[in-house]
Amino acid sequence: MKCRELMKLENTGHQGINSIFSKAHSADWDIDRDVDWSTPVEPDDSLVDHEWTAFGRTPTFQALPAEVRHYVTRRGLGRVLNILQVGESVAQDVCAKLALGLRHEDHRNAAVAQAMDEARHHLAYVRFLEKMGEEPEDIDPFTEDMFDTLLATEEPRRLIAFEQFYLESMAMNIFEGIHDHATNPLLKDILALITRDESRHMGFGVLYLAEWMKEASLDDRIRFAKAWLPRILFTVEDRPGPLMLRQVLRRIEEAGYPDAARLAPDLLREQQERNAEENARVLDGSKPSHLLKSAKNVGLLAPEITDALGLSDHPLVQAGRRAGDGAPAS
Ligand SMILES: [Fe+2]
Ligand SMILES: [Fe+2]
Repeated sequence: MKCRELMKLENTGHQGINSIFSKAHSADWDIDRDVDWSTPVEPDDSLVDHEWTAFGRTPTFQALPAEVRHYVTRRGLGRVLNILQVGESVAQDVCAKLALGLRHEDHRNAAVAQAMDEARHHLAYVRFLEKMGEEPEDIDPFTEDMFDTLLATEEPRRLIAFEQFYLESMAMNIFEGIHDHATNPLLKDILALITRDESRHMGFGVLYLAEWMKEASLDDRIRFAKAWLPRILFTVEDRPGPLMLRQVLRRIEEAGYPDAARLAPDLLREQQERNAEENARVLDGSKPSHLLKSAKNVGLLAPEITDALGLSDHPLVQAGRRAGDGAPAS
């Protein structure tokens, strides 16, 4: 990069993308001033209600002793917060790369503003984990591999598709889930502030890609959709199953409950019933998926694309087309 190349940075003039930078200031928050870190995080508190945790809405889980349910829920929360804190650092790296790789003033501004948000989010999660005062479970290999793939990515559009569009749309449902179920006021406040920032980040991904889709050839749009749409549909349908059950059973045992393995068949069957209910709620629009809405707003659910991918009859594609009508987030 030479000084001459920065002399007259071009701005795309996109109102929505330009407004992201202004909103990053007007909706800014201070990690010390706006969050009450003196709020206690008691060692025997689950911090979110038990229904938040995987298998927490099954009658078999709900019949467990309260201290076992507390322990399992708190360990699950610690695991997720640990993934989120490292995810924030990954996002910061992505934004640093984007700020150097993107060539338009408004795109660079959105990236640098997001980098500062992610630094603050990282601090907030780490401080909260410190207040919990226990070693969180290690990150799982699937998530670690996904973050490594993202960190090895260089091309700006692919970075934006992966981070701001896919990961941040997916994470919005996770943030909202923790916020809505949080019983600890500090956790609830942190999640409310972070979710506000994350919706801006997701908005940048959607607006950037929607603009690219407008200019791209049909072949390029189909190629792009082929890379992301099947993954999005899989993620939207993904619910707790046998893999997650192993984690939950291990935590039940750690809490001192005898012979946890015998609970497995009932937990799995009851959870599958809950999963079917959840999927029905996504399909009927009563529990909207941010991922599906983002896919629609970018243009991935356009008939010429879903026809080419053989996905036009997929129930989630049809639900996505009905859901979230309106302009892309800005
Ligand atoms: Fe973040
Ligand atoms: Fe973010």
